[in-house]
Amino acid sequence: MTQIIRTVAELRPLVRGWKAAGEVVGVVPTMGALHDGHLSLARAARRECGRVITTIFVNPKQFNNPDDLKKYPRTEEADVALLSSVGVDVVFIPQPDEVYPDGFITTVSVGGVSEPLEGRMRPGHFDGVATVVSKLFGMTMADRGYFGQKDWQQLQVVLRLVRDLNIPITIVGCETIREADGLAMSSRNVRLTAQGRSVANVLYSAISAAAEDIRAGQSDRMAIREAAEKMRSAGFERVEYIELRDAETLMPSDDPRKPRRMLAAVWLDGVRLIDNIPV
Ligand code: PAJ
Repeated sequence: MTQIIRTVAELRPLVRGWKAAGEVVGVVPTMGALHDGHLSLARAARRECGRVITTIFVNPKQFNNPDDLKKYPRTEEADVALLSSVGVDVVFIPQPDEVYPDGFITTVSVGGVSEPLEGRMRPGHFDGVATVVSKLFGMTMADRGYFGQKDWQQLQVVLRLVRDLNIPITIVGCETIREADGLAMSSRNVRLTAQGRSVANVLYSAISAAAEDIRAGQSDRMAIREAAEKMRSAGFERVEYIELRDAETLMPSDDPRKPRRMLAAVWLDGVRLIDNIPV
């Protein structure tokens, strides 16, 4: 039975009971509007943990655009049904004032890894993410936290945060779930027109080809330029960034002996899409 819980006061005693019984508790933080990408995290948690909590909270602090926050899809009933089908124990759905009561004044800000790429394009975004994720870890007291590689930089921010603040949780990064044509699943994909949707997979195919070319010895810069060109010719309005970075620090890296990641953000049909792959 999946239980819906809305307050920390109700959540805490339940989790304490689980822990006293020696159960491993997993948490899957989400903002709802769930798709198969989210559910893959819940399934991984279900396999690896005795108890699973999925949180649904559209976190106002991580939206740098008020209109984006207002427009964010809210599909609670469907989300709960999907999570029940995966067998999660608890869906934790707090109201904003449960998370940010009057007088709330603390911000968790991770330096370095938060600053480039998404951090530069979306000022304040990762402070909002780091603050809410810290709170969700504290509220759920989870032993394991599940995050998607789809948001690679976010995953690195959370890993850094947990290390720097000694938060007793193991972070698990789960593979990106894609549509059949390679497009990474995202709640934003439904906002694409039919025409946009038919070319959206060029984001993934172009960065995949670039990664392949780099592994085969082509220069980083040339491979990236070709990928950007492919996206522009496919009709993408704007390539916001396409970068090859150190996989952990997200700083520029031209050292192929270290794990590197190619990350891109693009605009298509007025929709901002992001993706990333290992190189
Ligand atoms: P949200 O965008 O709802 O994503 C919740 C989790 O699902 C994140 O860890 C994200 O990386 C993962 N995810 C999304 N699409 C995925 C895909 N196609 N394959 C695999 N995983 C995918 O990310 C957030 O919410 C918020 O920033 C949050 C961490 C909940 C903090 O508010």
